[in-house]
Amino acid sequence: MKNDLLKFITCGSVDDGKSTLIGHMLYDAKLIFTDQEKALELDSKVGSRGGKIDYSLLLDGLMAEREQGITIDVAYRYFTTENRSFIVADTPGHEEYTRNMAVGASFASLAIILVDASQGVLLQTKRHARICALMGIRHFVFAVNKMDLVNYDQMRLAKIEKAIQVLMAEFQYKTMKIIPVSATEGDNITKKSEQMLWYTGPTLLAYLEEVDVSEPQEKQAFLMPVQRVCRPDSDFRGFQGQVESGEATIGDIISVRPSGEKARIIQLFCGDRKTEKIIKGQAVTIQLDTEIDISRGCVLEKDAELEIGSMFAAKILWMDDNALVAGRNFILKLGTQMVPATVMNIKYKVDVNTGEEVFADTIYKNEIAFCEISTGSKIVFDKFENSRELGSLILIDRISNMTSACGVVVHALKREANLTWHNMDITKELRENQLGQQAVTVWFTGLSGSGKSTLANALEKRLFAMGRHTMLLDGDNVRMGLNKNLGFEEKDRIENIRRVAEVAKLMNDAGLIVMTAFIAPYRQDRRNAREIIGDRYIEVYVSTSLEECERRDVKGLYRKARNGEIANFTGVSSPYEKPEYADVTVDTSQYSVDESVEMILKAMKPYLQSRRNER
Ligand code: ADX
Repeated sequence: MKNDLLKFITCGSVDDGKSTLIGHMLYDAKLIFTDQEKALELDSKVGSRGGKIDYSLLLDGLMAEREQGITIDVAYRYFTTENRSFIVADTPGHEEYTRNMAVGASFASLAIILVDASQGVLLQTKRHARICALMGIRHFVFAVNKMDLVNYDQMRLAKIEKAIQVLMAEFQYKTMKIIPVSATEGDNITKKSEQMLWYTGPTLLAYLEEVDVSEPQEKQAFLMPVQRVCRPDSDFRGFQGQVESGEATIGDIISVRPSGEKARIIQLFCGDRKTEKIIKGQAVTIQLDTEIDISRGCVLEKDAELEIGSMFAAKILWMDDNALVAGRNFILKLGTQMVPATVMNIKYKVDVNTGEEVFADTIYKNEIAFCEISTGSKIVFDKFENSRELGSLILIDRISNMTSACGVVVHALKREANLTWHNMDITKELRENQLGQQAVTVWFTGLSGSGKSTLANALEKRLFAMGRHTMLLDGDNVRMGLNKNLGFEEKDRIENIRRVAEVAKLMNDAGLIVMTAFIAPYRQDRRNAREIIGDRYIEVYVSTSLEECERRDVKGLYRKARNGEIANFTGVSSPYEKPEYADVTVDTSQYSVDESVEMILKAMKPYLQSRRNER
């Protein structure tokens, strides 16, 4: 074990004594707190990179966070003893601790979980273990702290040990050690405790120095996600990234995923020096013999069996203050790839306490859920158990840009493999030409009673009179047919809007001008609709105020909602998120129907030129 590097994380809540424990360990052993540069030097030595400073390892950890947009508060501390070098990700125990811990855990190979001897295994402890296990940690140390407060009672420890064993039975781990300590008194931190002669195991530091966390060295396939294409001049095109597994040498034929194209390696660099061979962990530049299309997000591989597709099942840790509802759309980051993605459905959540799978359709902060995700385009991925890099993901909120979840790929979903998109001979353009018009969707949004249906109806009459081929999709009507099975909870509204957007797109493909009149209260869903439908999308915000809608109360629904007879009524007991950038905004209490229609027609002008003459 001598001289290798151990990356670990400490997990505990505010009063568990985490900092005291680390502080004591460093102070007692008079350990040198190496500064960052030293640590890099040390890391490159232990990482057998020829004694040269290799920034990849550290930068990778740190950059990954920045790239991911995770706002975290993790302090990386570096120290070294005669026997080993260490990097510890110290995650503060305040309220955002889960987020920080998840980030720390994705970097570490071992976790020290603090347990307060006076309190035993708490819900917190279970959450910590669960998150570490989810993020791929396979080596655990339970530091049962504050033994001084329970009079160094052996029976007390035995009881806690039982509870830890029950908890850990659920997880796949490789090593697990339980050490009774007192961080304040220094018992069993670096020196054997005089108070607990009944404990015959190693001290915490001694254990950390000797624990074997090495991965089996069987031959792994070569894998490198492309982070950057480097093109200093027209002669040279290099693909840069970190080798995630295996090795490659000059002359090797490698494949590019997802395209599957092949090329031969003609030059290799590790850092800025030429080399014959590259290996796992190195930051490299690869030059190939043929010009093929490779960009950030592609994966270069040799003999690897990767999944290429757009649907998979994942286990995620939800970290957002807003709850997760099925149907929601995010940016997914996996490896170096970033694509739009939808959480299609939530299968279950995991009970933090018991580990049981519990039915759920809404996931709250700090909960772990099993769900199915689909991506906007095909991506390269793998099961987390095969690849930490290509099997772990984060979901980024599209509006706040915050990381909403991190998680792991459990397996690919095969149902898409049996579907093939057929390109038809009669295209949208041909249909449009025959109808002599350009297809477009006019998407109305606004409160119930704001005048969406009235305006859409008037607009359709005008277009019809102009000889246009149109279709109007109206909320109440569609909900009596296609969307009969949907109610008004958030998840149903998301699905309502998704289906309507897909139908509008099909009708646009048929060459029709489509109007949709739905409340569509969520900004994210309207954005999603715009993405499904494409460029020819005009958003009309019918901005009539809630007071006015309620005064009109054409259907008598506001009165019922106020009386509590209707739940989740938009504007009363369910939110309406106003559009920020609508193409047209009309308040029907200020403009007549004709005036409003004129405003919309103006916005539609680019699409209203006749196409017939173009034939
Ligand atoms: S959306 O929110 O999913 O876009 P949609 O436009 O389809 O709603 O349906 C809204 C219509 O359903 C309203 O105009 C109203 O007639 C009726 N309705 C019944 N219950 C509700 C409710 N809880 N909230 C809003 N509209 C409701």
